[in-house]
Amino acid sequence: WKVRHYDFDVEYMYRSLDCVQHVVMGINGQFPAPTIRANAGDTVVVRLTNKLQTEGVVIHWHGIRQLGTPWADGTASISQCAINPGETFTYRFKVDRAGTYFYHGHYGMQRSAGLYGSLIVDVAEGEKEPFHYDGEINLLLSDWWHQSVHEQEVGLSSLPFRWIGEPQSLLINGRGQYNCSLAAHYSNYSNGNQCKLRGGEQCAPQILHVLPNKTYRLRIASTTALASLNLAIGECLSAIIPFGRVNGYTKWAINNVSLALPPTPYLGSIKFGLKNAFGNTSPPERFSATYDIMKPPANPNSTVGSGVYMLGLGTTVDVILQNANALSENVSEIHPWHLHGHDFWVLGYGEGKFSTEDEKNLNLKNPPLRNTAVIFPYGWTALRFVADNPGVWAFHCHIEPHLHLGMGVIFAEGVHRVGKIPNEALACGLTAKMFLSGKNN
Ligand code: C2O
Ligand code: CU
Repeated sequence: WKVRHYDFDVEYMYRSLDCVQHVVMGINGQFPAPTIRANAGDTVVVRLTNKLQTEGVVIHWHGIRQLGTPWADGTASISQCAINPGETFTYRFKVDRAGTYFYHGHYGMQRSAGLYGSLIVDVAEGEKEPFHYDGEINLLLSDWWHQSVHEQEVGLSSLPFRWIGEPQSLLINGRGQYNCSLAAHYSNYSNGNQCKLRGGEQCAPQILHVLPNKTYRLRIASTTALASLNLAIGECLSAIIPFGRVNGYTKWAINNVSLALPPTPYLGSIKFGLKNAFGNTSPPERFSATYDIMKPPANPNSTVGSGVYMLGLGTTVDVILQNANALSENVSEIHPWHLHGHDFWVLGYGEGKFSTEDEKNLNLKNPPLRNTAVIFPYGWTALRFVADNPGVWAFHCHIEPHLHLGMGVIFAEGVHRVGKIPNEALACGLTAKMFLSGKNN
């Protein structure tokens, strides 16, 4: 087994991703960020330096379970303090299983700002893939807005609420072409030349070279912040989710609670017993049996909370994600939910309100194992996982503005069993204070 070292500098750069110049977040001058490649069983070490000047940063390794290294999960306010401008944080974790993964920013809406790249884990050295192919093609799919994420964020937390709207472009490996007829309305681009590509432009589509009669493996990963994509080649507890309002501000809520992340990351505050670091009432375990999922919430007033679902280490947890009507009539949206630190079994999904009849029909024989599952409008999805990975883990909708508006919950299990958390992960909020007063030793 090898140790794979990477030095990453995160910075903003000007790029014409879709033929319109904007600022994008990149790593080492590249967008999308460089691909990480390792073999199963290897240790990946990434020294991440924040060169952003005015904002913190963290990176999450999506799909990597972080067994024994929960502090390397890269979730701001959950597993670590955000890395301040000028500072370096070293992520060190084992990639235990072959697969196509990706990594992305997990602080504010930095994924929408362009902070993502591929993480490919090949089978362990000396082992063979279960199928043969002659070459491989990596497709990283994403969506792109012309409005900066800072503007988007202010809009989402304003009164009146300003939704971010549809993305201006879809990108494949970081390249796309902004709608040419629309682009002509932008005075800066009104010369009409923006879509006549000569090749070599930053936004020229990438050409994938393939030979006849050969087999290619497509590695497809979607880091989209909002869009659900259909790629025309091939494929790759109980909770209720309507919109709510908190003091008039629009939020998403789970069992009437909208997640607000605390300044002190949970991993440190739970490990060191800092009880005031986050909401000490744990969130409700179920929703009212009489909730009418087909109607806007009868009482749209939700609360904001930072409470945690504390799970016994090793317990089996069943989650029914129940979708419902959002704030306006006849609106229910699709949500891809992602669990950190574990895989889960998808026991079933269906339309309408989850019933005892549905419960009888769950697939307990051969359910698929995933780390992300979709809940369809007005539908439910049933998941099961074993809480066997000591740490604190986010479980949330992967649509970035939805998470930003509170669509997520926090699970914690076996935190007393977590090893030595690196100091840099704790150097903020109440854990930093604890260090200053020397109380931990
Ligand atoms: Cu890829 Cu918490 O997400
Ligand atoms: Cu969502």
